[in-house]
Amino acid sequence: MQPGGGRIAMFEGKTIVLGVSGGIAAYKAAQLASDLGKTAADVHVIMTGNAAQFVTPLTFETLVNNRVAIDTFDRNFEYNVEHVSLAKKADVFIVAPATANVIAKMAAGIADDMLTTTLLAARCPKLVAPAMNTGMYDNPITQRNLETLRRFGVTVLEPDSGLLACGDTGRGRLPAPAVLFEAVRRALAPQDMAGLRVLVTAGPTREAVDPVRFLSNRSTGRMGYEVAAAASRRGAAVTLVTGPTALAAPQGVEAVPVESAQEMFEAVASRASVQDIIVKCAAVADFRPRTAAADKIKKGASEGMTLELERTRDILAYLGQTRAPGQVLCGFSMETRDLVAHSQEKLEKKHADMIVANNLNEPGAGFAVPTNAVTLLTKAGAEKLPLMGKDALADEIFDRLLAMRRERT
Ligand code: C5P
Repeated sequence: MQPGGGRIAMFEGKTIVLGVSGGIAAYKAAQLASDLGKTAADVHVIMTGNAAQFVTPLTFETLVNNRVAIDTFDRNFEYNVEHVSLAKKADVFIVAPATANVIAKMAAGIADDMLTTTLLAARCPKLVAPAMNTGMYDNPITQRNLETLRRFGVTVLEPDSGLLACGDTGRGRLPAPAVLFEAVRRALAPQDMAGLRVLVTAGPTREAVDPVRFLSNRSTGRMGYEVAAAASRRGAAVTLVTGPTALAAPQGVEAVPVESAQEMFEAVASRASVQDIIVKCAAVADFRPRTAAADKIKKGASEGMTLELERTRDILAYLGQTRAPGQVLCGFSMETRDLVAHSQEKLEKKHADMIVANNLNEPGAGFAVPTNAVTLLTKAGAEKLPLMGKDALADEIFDRLLAMRRERT
């Protein structure tokens, strides 16, 4: 997922340290610094002397609004003390790009410059994003060093494969800044959903008219993908049953692609009984053509045509009737008028625990935008939330669903 709209709660009051070592990929770290710098976190950058040859410290200083640390011995004593305090207050430490050299030093416990000294002193979760020539990366010595880091609890982010700056093709490319950002975000997320199984549906469905045409809607899947990403970050095992979208499945999520409402029904129903929480974000078609033509319908000489439609199965209503004991069920509702009244009706009729209601006519809400403005409906009543990023909303939804679970058990 791209860094989301608005301020993300999990960055508030957090200190992030970004270590940049000397590879050509250091320029990509500037984008990561920019993304992190826009959150509520206090972001500090430590560069190796070599990294400062590739990108100027001023770039990072401007992006994160903190002085960049480069070497232990080129600053005064006070600053040396400060770097130990940085190691103490860091909530997460990411080294991106991590050269073979820095990885080797980390694995051996060598602390001979500002970056490696602070790394060795820090006790927070550490992430390492290796980026180097394929030969260096595949070298068994580097692989052994990475294995050592993993054994000591460091998260090693897999490099991408492709054409490298040196002209070789293979493993060793620094992942995109958005992937690194997401990894930091995961490291900061509370693990309050660990051990839970969550099923999320997302996107539109397509109902075939003939082999070429279908009936569908404007859903992009964005809300559902953010819901799946949030649960996964917080430690849940997540299955995402998704209609056709242009989005990449969030990290760590099992995606089950489907097309029609009937396929979605089957994919959800067959997995429902083992889930602790089900969130139905998908914009499921309510009607489908009674028959899908086997061949492309020709326009012929006719002036018009009539499509005969029939109802699809209501998946949420089915889940409401068949749910496992203790399972929490959340649906979405999109209306253009009488939002609360219609959504309240859905809550009761479909036996859901919560309906997230959004009014398509409200600015910033609805399809294809990164934000949403919703009203949450539960048995306890209606709660209007302010306009917020869909990612932040996903966390708000789970905060409440988890509270409901706790009340029941
Ligand atoms: O009744 P309405 O379609 O507005 O209800 C929306 C909610 O019901 C959403 O959570 C949607 O995923 C779900 N739904 C469903 N199966 C359908 C239609 C809607 O699960 N056939």
